[in-house]
Amino acid sequence: MSDLLKVTNLSVHFPVRTRGVWRKTVGRLVAVDNVSFSIARGETLGLVGESGSGKTTLGLAILRGTQPTSGQVELTAATGTIDVTKLDKQALRDARQHFQMIFQDPYSSLNARMTVRDIIAEPLIARRTQKLDRKAIDQRVIEIAEQCGLNREQLRRYPHAFSGGQRQRIAIARALVLHPDLVVCDEPTSSLDVSIQAQILNLLAELQESLGLTYLFIAHDLAAVAYVCDRVAVMYLGQIVEIGATRDVYFTPRHPYTEALMSSVPEPDPSAPLQPMLLQGERPDPANPPSGCRFRTRCRYATELCATTPPVPVEIEPNHFAACHYAKELSLKGALALRNAGQDKVAE
Ligand SMILES: Nc1ncnc2c1ncn2[C@@H]1O[C@H](COP(=O)(O)OP(=O)(O)OP(=O)(O)O)[C@@H](O)[C@H]1O
Ligand SMILES: [Mg+2]
Repeated sequence: MSDLLKVTNLSVHFPVRTRGVWRKTVGRLVAVDNVSFSIARGETLGLVGESGSGKTTLGLAILRGTQPTSGQVELTAATGTIDVTKLDKQALRDARQHFQMIFQDPYSSLNARMTVRDIIAEPLIARRTQKLDRKAIDQRVIEIAEQCGLNREQLRRYPHAFSGGQRQRIAIARALVLHPDLVVCDEPTSSLDVSIQAQILNLLAELQESLGLTYLFIAHDLAAVAYVCDRVAVMYLGQIVEIGATRDVYFTPRHPYTEALMSSVPEPDPSAPLQPMLLQGERPDPANPPSGCRFRTRCRYATELCATTPPVPVEIEPNHFAACHYAKELSLKGALALRNAGQDKVAE
């Protein structure tokens, strides 16, 4: 499979400023630190890691919703390869049709004063190229709305008339109306009722199949990630510490942080004891990360080497990389609970 997205040494720094009128810059926070990975066309890459690890910033930087500090993002669409980091404002606007983002909160992401039809049609109308007449716009809006499980009658209403799950369907229809190649889904189900979450995950999976979409799927919910993702990347303090096929990362993790994450995946049997491996210590200040390996202050296996030398990602088995000095030696526990669940991608 060819790569749709190739991210090379991408970094995003934010200035750390003092409070008050002058707001002096006193440091920098490295929210995304030298991250490289690629996503094949039609694939779903999961992105997991605790709050503040830089997942949203990485997703935004890929789409230039946030300006990257350095690095390269290449997107290979049918029309050729675009270097997203180098586009000027106008070219970026035109390129936006190739990549879209779906956000966590469908309440704040939809304009309350517009009808659903107008919300979904807006990207089509704003586009400078391939202008459509009103009839063609309506046709396209109806087509994508129906694919997202909305009916024609609902298009005349305003967002307030809809539940969270339906609002997320509207947001998805809007994101897909221009036929994007890549969709960054940032916690697309975490604000929804549990009963609705599975419907939205299934919808995203169906749309991927029928429209040939490629997803970067950001989530906290490790069971949802196992359900929809072909591969998973694990982030810690701005860096990808492990990346590989979902089943490898879940069952034979090679980074101690992944092991700790996986220990928190609950058993399908609610009476089974959950024994999350609690991470020792506090999360370090991202503006002042530890020397050497960033995870070492919370790692049960850390040695002196970890304090002095940052680990580089090594390929432990084909297409499975971990950035830990001891990745080859440690025998870490995976998410055994999910192996027994049976219906996930990881168990295929
Ligand atoms: N615009 C900004 N200005 C300054 N710092 C920021 C900005 N956006 C994010 N950060 C900081 O960058 C780091 C990464 O934040 P980010 O929102 O990407 O994390 P996340 O992994 O998406 O977290 P969550 O799981 O809570 O959504 C955090 O320390 C955050 O405080
Ligand atoms: Mg986030």
